[in-house]
Amino acid sequence: MPSASVWKAGPENVTYTTSNGAPFPEPYQTQRVSNGKKNIGGPLLLQDFHHIDLLAHFDRERIPERVVHAKGGGAHGVFEATHDVSDICCAKFLEQGKKTPLTVRWSTVGGESGSADTARDPRGFSVKLRTEEGNYDWVFNNTPIFFLRDPAKFPHFIHTQKRDPQTHLKDNDMFWDYLSQNPESVHQVMILMGDRGIPKGHRHQHGYSGHTFKLVNEQGNWVYAQWHLRSDSGFKHYTQEEGVKLAGENPDIHNQELFEQIEAGDFPTWTVSLQTMTQEQAEKWEHSVFDLTKVWPHSEYPLRPVGKLTVNKNPENYFAEIEQVAFAPSHLVPGIEPSADPVLQSRLFSYPDTHRHRLGVNYQQIPVNAPLVPVANFQRDGAMTVNGNQGARPNYQSTVVPLQYTKRPVVHSATHDDFAASSIGNFLSEVNDLDFVQPRALWEKVFDDGAKERFINNVSGHLGGCKSKEIQLRQLAVFKRVHPDIAARIGEKIGVSA
Ligand code: HEM
Repeated sequence: MPSASVWKAGPENVTYTTSNGAPFPEPYQTQRVSNGKKNIGGPLLLQDFHHIDLLAHFDRERIPERVVHAKGGGAHGVFEATHDVSDICCAKFLEQGKKTPLTVRWSTVGGESGSADTARDPRGFSVKLRTEEGNYDWVFNNTPIFFLRDPAKFPHFIHTQKRDPQTHLKDNDMFWDYLSQNPESVHQVMILMGDRGIPKGHRHQHGYSGHTFKLVNEQGNWVYAQWHLRSDSGFKHYTQEEGVKLAGENPDIHNQELFEQIEAGDFPTWTVSLQTMTQEQAEKWEHSVFDLTKVWPHSEYPLRPVGKLTVNKNPENYFAEIEQVAFAPSHLVPGIEPSADPVLQSRLFSYPDTHRHRLGVNYQQIPVNAPLVPVANFQRDGAMTVNGNQGARPNYQSTVVPLQYTKRPVVHSATHDDFAASSIGNFLSEVNDLDFVQPRALWEKVFDDGAKERFINNVSGHLGGCKSKEIQLRQLAVFKRVHPDIAARIGEKIGVSA
């Protein structure tokens, strides 16, 4: 983490100045033409840099909010590697006993920056680990799966939760129109509309990579892996009614509680674990390891503990340290690689791209994003170059002043031949009966009677708000493929026969 002094306002007794540091007597003053006869001056003067600069800076205070996950809160902390996993991964920060400073941010997905913390929504759970080999970002959600597995669907799906182009209103029809036509979403819909949809605070939720990554050991051998962050405070949730009430009474309750807990020394912690799968296991598994709509059964792929994540320091300044933090699944370190999951592959591009738009081309130089280790490469210049621009060192691969190159063996994993192919085609996954097996298990084996009742009520409340009967029927048909009881019970509540 950058030293606290980077973020501190400075010594207590500071003198008020203009932005160029010149002392200025009174913040409210403006230069005006005046004959001094009345208590109010005449016209303003363009030469009044203090005043023009005040207004001009104010006019530019807002940066684009995140296109998704705009509402969030976060803090700083530490990851401690508690177990030896060197047999599967050579990332240095995973060496047993190592402690790595980090910044974490939780967020809702669909709402704007001022929206309520208790909205029914998946939650983002992002962590920037400042390792000795560069920054490694976990850009996770609080659900182990996602609504889609074809990346081109993502902007469409997100648009259905944003505002209608004409009315500028959110619209239940858009949401269910999409979901009912893309039934692979139903697994995540069941989690969203169940108790997991409104966690009772940042600390009471788990985090999941969702995607499959590849871990590589020092010998270059690799396994598929998924990350799990299990809250040591346990999962807790609000009911729909509590969530709606709190959205009105205290829309920032999650951020407020987190801040207060940390100030009181009541630090939230998570146990970090891995699920792994070998190539052979992946080939035999009934689902694809690149299918983001599926979980890996814990009975077959047990959690292997890795470390502990503790959140223990509030930001000094929210904008500098949380709004400007820029996570990317492509910020990886040696020993950890992306899998061929096409959604993950798309995300590798999308995050640095949106950061260049939201924060600028030099977003990695912003103190909260800057690695602790020195950066040495041939990138130079650009707007807001603020870190010395790598000084006098040549800006090309020079033989006169060469860079040092890492002596670490190249650990790039081999491709998984079984899943590699030789032809190119336009691909869109198809939905089949296998897609309903895990949602059915959720309904039959995981949800108890109370959870089932709350799920039925939550869906009915939302789907019941659709104007189109056709959309309602189509979604009921999707639920029917999961379990006929679901469709019948919701159908009865919303007055539509499944
Ligand atoms: C935020 C794109 C899927 C987790 C974002 C942002 C974009 C984006 C553009 C805004 C980032 C920013 O402005 O800083 C996409 C695309 C996806 C996708 C194109 C699929 C094709 C996912 C999935 C997950 C996820 C599957 C979780 C497994 C997050 C999180 C954030 C985020 C946690 C908030 C990061 C923060 O706290 O700053 N996503 N996303 N996204 N996304 Fe995704």
